[in-house]
Amino acid sequence: MQRLNNKICVVTGAARGIGRAIAARFVQEGAIVVLTDVDAEAGAAAAAALGCRFERLDVAVEADWIRLATRIPTADVVVNNAGVTGFESGMVSHDPEHATLEDWRAVHRINLDGTFLGCRYAIGAMKAAGAGSIINMSSRSGMVGIPGAAAYASSKAAIRNHSKTVALYCAQQGWKIRCNSIHPAAILTPMWEPMLGDGPDREARMAALVADTPLRRFGLPEEVAAIAAMLASDEAAYITGTELQVDGGLLAGSAAAPG
Ligand SMILES: NC(=O)c1ccc[n+]([C@@H]2O[C@H](COP(=O)([O-])OP(=O)(O)OC[C@H]3O[C@@H](n4cnc5c(N)ncnc54)[C@H](O)[C@@H]3O)[C@@H](O)[C@H]2O)c1
Repeated sequence: MQRLNNKICVVTGAARGIGRAIAARFVQEGAIVVLTDVDAEAGAAAAAALGCRFERLDVAVEADWIRLATRIPTADVVVNNAGVTGFESGMVSHDPEHATLEDWRAVHRINLDGTFLGCRYAIGAMKAAGAGSIINMSSRSGMVGIPGAAAYASSKAAIRNHSKTVALYCAQQGWKIRCNSIHPAAILTPMWEPMLGDGPDREARMAALVADTPLRRFGLPEEVAAIAAMLASDEAAYITGTELQVDGGLLAGSAAAPG
């Protein structure tokens, strides 16, 4: 059974990593996928490999969303997946004491403004049919504090909350437009490369990063894509305003032992 047969699905930040895996899974499920990314070269290559359409879209730029709305005026599913840690060009201080206002704003601009604009586009593109599924990529970091990644954690927490506002607003309007957030943790994608490095201690660093994860391993992008496919499908018709953790059990407990 193809769960997304002929549904028009827009996925942001889908040139690689989780977004690409979601686009691939949606294609398998019979969807008409519009793969978008700020990186035109990698995005077009990914779309060609998956056999779907590519549109260049910087999620933080309103004019890009307006252009997308003219080119793709209706959508059944929008996945606001694009996101940055702020460490893409190398590790910098992002703790609450040393993060610069510029760095703080840069992360929020893409993660939070991008998701806000994506939800606004999605509502416009789904309103005529009065139905649809909006999926926002938050993070485990949106639910707990992260001392070394203050802007990332704050932006992801705001995405979690905004998803609930969008869900309630759409329900209030009498639309069957659902909005939910996914909260992954430690999914092995290129996002981790600046933090893992390629030195001889890479393996040790990887093991240390998942030492507190009950399932003791990194997750796969495909494991997030499976949950996105479920939320996108009509099987999730009664699920809105909720949050789904894909984190190997990390948020189920605390690494700090009692006593
Ligand atoms: N990998 C993880 O462990 C993890 C954990 C929690 C949450 N997430 C979230 O999942 C999402 C995808 O993460 P990933 O690991 O695949 O990251 P990634 O860095 O591998 O891929 C991110 C993609 O987003 C694109 N992008 C960056 N800025 C953009 C912009 N302004 N407009 C459009 N596209 C843009 C990049 O070009 C890239 O293709 C992000 O929102 C991330 O915060 C990831």
